[in-house]
Amino acid sequence: MVDKGIGGHTRPNQGRTDRWITPREIVQALGPFDLDPCADESQPWPTANRMVKFPSDGLVEAWTGRVWLNPPYSSVWTWMARLSQHGQGTALIFARTETDGFVRYVWQRASAMLFLKKRLHFHLPSGERASSNSGGPSVLVAYGARDRQLLATCGLDGYFVDKWWTPLESGRG
Ligand SMILES: C[S@@+](CC[C@H](N)C(=O)[O-])C[C@H]1O[C@@H](n2cnc3c(N)ncnc32)[C@H](O)[C@@H]1O
Repeated sequence: MVDKGIGGHTRPNQGRTDRWITPREIVQALGPFDLDPCADESQPWPTANRMVKFPSDGLVEAWTGRVWLNPPYSSVWTWMARLSQHGQGTALIFARTETDGFVRYVWQRASAMLFLKKRLHFHLPSGERASSNSGGPSVLVAYGARDRQLLATCGLDGYFVDKWWTPLESGRG
């Protein structure tokens, strides 16, 4: 069902943590979400009405409704494959636009993208803002009509790229 190891990352994870928390204002601008399949064990603010945390496995659990996905970067394309199959939700990933995973799961399957203008500062599981920025560009990736619409009108600072030809409605969807 999902492919592991579709080459998104040319460097290994180097033992760095996967536990980078999404800034609250991003989730607030795009929410509410029905499911976060990989919430942190000590998630400092909610990302979705239903948050799957270790020891549960978000890749095994059923996915329903609008999904918020900030995947563990050590296996980002496994999660993006699942979201692209699910077809309803928004992901936050690095904008590594040339990688095989980005081509397969974003360029070929997303409904829209918002390339964020500035580098993000993620947060630690405690809620504290990371002292350094993310070190690279981030993109929000929408799947399905509703997430496309919400991404277009969320007000976050970035460049919107529409993947569908259908006209957008005015206002939030
Ligand atoms: C980049 S963090 C994002 C946390 C949260 N989703 C957010 O947006 O703030 C990824 C999280 O996925 C969790 N995780 C990794 N694999 C998981 C799995 N199989 N099931 C559930 N959670 C998992 C890790 O504990 C980590 O906190």
